[in-house]
Formats: sequence, C-alpha cells, structure tokens
Amino acid sequence: MSKKRNNAKVNEFEGTFLADGKLCTKNMIPGKRVYDEFLYNSKHGELRSWDPRRSKPAAAIYKGLHHFPLKKGMKVLYLGVASGTTCSHFSDLVEKEGIIYGIEISDRVLREILTIAKERGNIVPILADARMPEEFPWIEDVDLVYADIAIKDQSEVLIRNCKKFLKPGGFAMIAIKSRSIDVTKRPTDVYKEERKKLEQFFNVTDFVTLEPHERDHGYFVLKRK
Ligand SMILES: C[S@@+](CC[C@H](N)C(=O)[O-])C[C@H]1O[C@@H](n2cnc3c(N)ncnc32)[C@H](O)[C@@H]1O
Repeated sequence: MSKKRNNAKVNEFEGTFLADGKLCTKNMIPGKRVYDEFLYNSKHGELRSWDPRRSKPAAAIYKGLHHFPLKKGMKVLYLGVASGTTCSHFSDLVEKEGIIYGIEISDRVLREILTIAKERGNIVPILADARMPEEFPWIEDVDLVYADIAIKDQSEVLIRNCKKFLKPGGFAMIAIKSRSIDVTKRPTDVYKEERKKLEQFFNVTDFVTLEPHERDHGYFVLKRK
C-alpha cells in the first residue's frame, strides 16, 4: 500500500466507468445533472462525470485507490452528507436496490439535498449530529459507513457509529482533513495518529492522500475487524 501515488492509474470498480478519460458513474436519472458534471451516452447507459475537485472519494480513485468497497444493493450510513454532491454518485452506485442514510448537522445545507433525495428514492436525509448516534437509533444495520465531517474527533465519531450500525465484516471510508485535527502538525503525522486510532477497530485496506485535488486530506478504506 503506497502512500503517494502520483501518475496513478484510475482503477475501475463495480459501477464506475471511464468516459473521455473521466471517472463516471451511471446516471440513475438520465438527463439530470446534480452539479456541473458532464453527461455522456455510452453502451452502459448515460454516465455522469465524478469530479475529484468536488468529491473526495473521486479524488481518492484518481489517486489510484485499489480498494473501493461500495457496491450495488448496499445499505450505507453517510456522516456529513451536505448538499449531496458525493451522495448522488453513491446513489448511482448502490442503485435502487440500495439505500443511503445521510446525516447532516446543518439544516440549511441539508435542505439542498431534498429534491435529489425525492427524485432518486434511495437517499434518506437526516438532520442530526453524527457525534450522537443515539439520536437516530432506528437506522438499520449497514454494509458501509462513510465519514466526511471535517471535525477534530472525526475518527472517534466514525468508530462510535460503526459500533452501533456497521455489520460484522462491514466496510468504512473516511476523509481525514488534517487541518481540522491539528493545524500545527504535519499532515503525515496526523494521518499516522489517526491510523493508530482506526486500527483499534478496523483493518486498513487502502490509504491515499488527495493532493492535488484536496489539500492536506488523507483517505482511508477500512474493514471492520
Ligand atoms: C466537507 S463537508 C461534506 C461534503 C460532502 N461529503 C460531499 O462530498 O458532498 C462536511 C459536512 O459535515 C457537516 N458536519 C460537520 N459536523 C457534523 C456533525 N457533527 N454531524 C453531522 N454533520 C456534520 C457539515 O455541516 C458539512 O456539511
């Protein structure tokens, strides 16, 4: 597992495609854009480009991620769903057989996802604090938890949610924003410290840094022990 993968090959995963050299997912709602992404006709159906400057999992795939466990039919808990840019691609990937529970603390931001959720039918937006999973106890056990909350205790919050909701052997992914944890430390030192915390509960199956798409971010892919 290399830490730096410049000139990385963009690997294709179940549900991801390359069109015109760009990473794409298959558009669940043909003809509809969610942000300013490109649409392409292909033999797979209509594809939407997945912008690495707008979405950290896309940046991680562009950086040569080898393991991307999100698949059709999965139940996903998404911490920090915001207005739904990344979530719309997760929605394409899990298709109508899957579901995404999207937790967001800001009602102003969450409002923007409501139309997307209604059109797609596989996104459940939830106004709540990810630090307090006891506030949303009705969520079913999930196959994957994704955290992109950019707060100091983001690894602890991920683990707390995984203890409550992640199936045995399930997966997690987290985008670590180094500056949210400690602006005075080198990002590589922050990633090392976060890895130690995460390894108490998970095996790390992949790690990449997200430069040049996102500054001072590390992306972990994890499997519950
Ligand atoms: C970096 S943005 C997420 C971007 C989004 N994941 C995407 O790729 O489209 C971080 C989001 O986490 C939300 N957030 C921060 N703290 C949170 C908390 N404790 N619980 C839930 N959401 C939180 C913020 O309001 C913000 O919308």
